[in-house]
Amino acid sequence: MNDRIYINEVAPRDGFQIEPVFIPTADKIALIDALSPIDLAKIEVSSFTSPKAIPTLRDAAEVMSGIGRRPGVIYTALIPNEKGVERALACHTDELNFVMSASDSHGQANLHMSADQSLERFARMVDLTGNTATNASISTAFGCPFEGVVEPERVLDIVQRIAALGIDGVTLCDTTGMANPSQVGALCRQVIERHPELTLTLHLHNTRGMGLANALAGWQAGVRHFDAALGGLGGCPFAPGATGNVCTEDLVHMFEQMGVDTGVDLERLLVVAKRLQSIVGHDVPGQVVKAGTSQRRYPLPDAAG
Ligand code: COA
Ligand code: ZN
Repeated sequence: MNDRIYINEVAPRDGFQIEPVFIPTADKIALIDALSPIDLAKIEVSSFTSPKAIPTLRDAAEVMSGIGRRPGVIYTALIPNEKGVERALACHTDELNFVMSASDSHGQANLHMSADQSLERFARMVDLTGNTATNASISTAFGCPFEGVVEPERVLDIVQRIAALGIDGVTLCDTTGMANPSQVGALCRQVIERHPELTLTLHLHNTRGMGLANALAGWQAGVRHFDAALGGLGGCPFAPGATGNVCTEDLVHMFEQMGVDTGVDLERLLVVAKRLQSIVGHDVPGQVVKAGTSQRRYPLPDAAG
């Protein structure tokens, strides 16, 4: 069925980057190794960023080298600059996910770069990648916590410049959950119409409870690739007010209930999701893991009681 969706599991990167404590390398590897057999299309293993900027992911190379690789799963990583490309290629990362911000304020806070500077950098980074697959994630594509509105024309211009560099895919990121379904549908439709050559992915945060509604709007507009985080972990440390990504198991549950294939075995995913709380040491926002799936049936209440 060509309506099926493809999920990129980002908890090991977007989730663990904002955890207040360092998740031990062995726990990161064990979680990814437990996720691999579930047949997620892609797993974002870590980020090759400055360890001063993101200390909790300073073990990116050890994690990328330590995981088992399941054929058919793409192991990707977030990359801000040339040094990140070199580090990622040294440990055979399958895909390089370049990151930039649509808004200059968030770009400066997150990467010390404006959008133009990031795009100039991307051109130099592309030259280093050889045959390795590339994607570009555009943060604050639906709104910026510092500037507010980010004009769709600005995002479309950035997408066009990314496409011109020969990058294979683009991810529109709602970094702090500012997007609404109408906005998501409209922008995704325009990107798909103008750039059929790009693989378009949506990266949604549930900061204001609109995550699944936005995913559905994206799917209705033709998007088939989604980032999501196990347990609904996640957030950008350089975006005030950022909270978790749309939750992988909740997203899979919704689409499966609608009859849309996700390629993922939900029951097995829920088993792994249940382990997450003990790894991070706190409650997580995911809902299906607590409520059970819609197939769950309760015993009738005792009439006498
Ligand atoms: N990997 C490891 N170290 C890196 C690096 C990379 N990709 N890029 C830069 N560094 C190191 C430099 O070697 C230098 O080290 P030194 O101080 O020991 O000499 C230091 O970081 C500063 O380098 P510089 O090029 O001046 O970068 P910067 O301080 O302006 O920071 C970024 C720019 C992009 C490297 C940094 O802001 C960053 O990593 N941001 C990532 C933010 C992020 O991941 N946010 C969440 C996801 S949206
Ligand atoms: Zn994110």
